Amino acid sequence: MRDRVAVLHGVNLAALDRRPAQHYGGLTFTRLEQTVAGYAEALGLTVRFFQSDFEGEYVQELHKAPDYADALVLNPGAWTHYAWAIRDALEISGLPAVEVHLSDVGMRERFRRESVIRDLCVATVAGQGVEGYRTALEHVREVLAT
Ligand code: DQA
Repeated sequence: MRDRVAVLHGVNLAALDRRPAQHYGGLTFTRLEQTVAGYAEALGLTVRFFQSDFEGEYVQELHKAPDYADALVLNPGAWTHYAWAIRDALEISGLPAVEVHLSDVGMRERFRRESVIRDLCVATVAGQGVEGYRTALEHVREVLAT
């Protein structure tokens, strides 16, 4: 059964509670992961988390991900907007992926409208806060069921 999902968080996500609450909801990163774990369990998915502030580590995790996951949920933080090496690593992984952002990146600064991973992802979810992860996991479940 294909039910294993890697949720990969990128740069600055671990400091979530110190970032503007109007965009990120003021919740701690621990709380975010706990909430996402609850969503995954309710959807019958097995979830594994990873976070790094180092781009090379994130790339290496994408290389390893096919060994332990069937699909990805990615929030690379600011790397989303310019990190072409992460895009290439996602392509190398060959896994179905959903892009998720807590904030509404389309309605913020211009540089946040660009995503270097979007066209490699089966869906993008943004602006739904932590609940966006449930939407992302629903997309994943659908993809894994087909
Ligand atoms: C983010 C949006 C990015 O623009 C930002 O750099 C982040 C978080 C989000 O979840 O809304 O670090 O990915």
